[in-house]
Amino acid sequence: MADVEVPGQARRGWFVTLEGPDGSGKSAQSERLRAAAAATGQDVVLVREPGGTAGGERIRAILNDAGPVGVRLARRTDALLFNAARAQLLDEIIGPALRRGALVISDRYADSTLAYQGCGSELPLDELRPVVDFATGGLLPDRTILIDVPVVVGLARKSAAETTRWEAHFDRAFHERVRAGYLSFAAADPARWVVVDGTAP
Ligand code: TYD
Repeated sequence: MADVEVPGQARRGWFVTLEGPDGSGKSAQSERLRAAAAATGQDVVLVREPGGTAGGERIRAILNDAGPVGVRLARRTDALLFNAARAQLLDEIIGPALRRGALVISDRYADSTLAYQGCGSELPLDELRPVVDFATGGLLPDRTILIDVPVVVGLARKSAAETTRWEAHFDRAFHERVRAGYLSFAAADPARWVVVDGTAP
């Protein structure tokens, strides 16, 4: 029986993810990449995490509301919610797009869980990896672009209106661990990762 739950199965498309610390400029660069690809006539789909589907946006709202004054979420709950939103995005959008041969660009993906819940919140990476694999059916990006910026630069770029609980309720050391985690992932797998200096305006 064909397992339609395996998101990337028999895919013909190309899957690119953008990762980086908060304020690295991923969202702007994802949009520029999408526009450049679309201008060549390429079938291209841009998504962002967490969210991107009706169900995923609801999960995003729960995640954004969490903190000392909102709902309380344990670190493991965080990890499961991000991955629940991810599973939905794969099922509804990423999987179908890759199967029809599109270029899919995702503003954050599985590596965000490893960097934030793993390195940032210090959940063991070897416990998180199976959770991520379950959500994604093991679908890995063909290329991951890490937009690297020093933590102070990234946080300074975020306006108060844009500030989510990740900037507001996690300390500088948390963000330093996230950045160091990303750099270590990139160093460990240079065939997939490309590191870009994100300090330019
Ligand atoms: P968002 O406002 O989208 O931030 P950004 O524009 O920097 O992507 O908020 C998403 C936040 O969620 C961001 O701080 C990273 C965090 N995150 C995780 O902690 N784990 C995850 O798996 C994902 C996808 C995001």
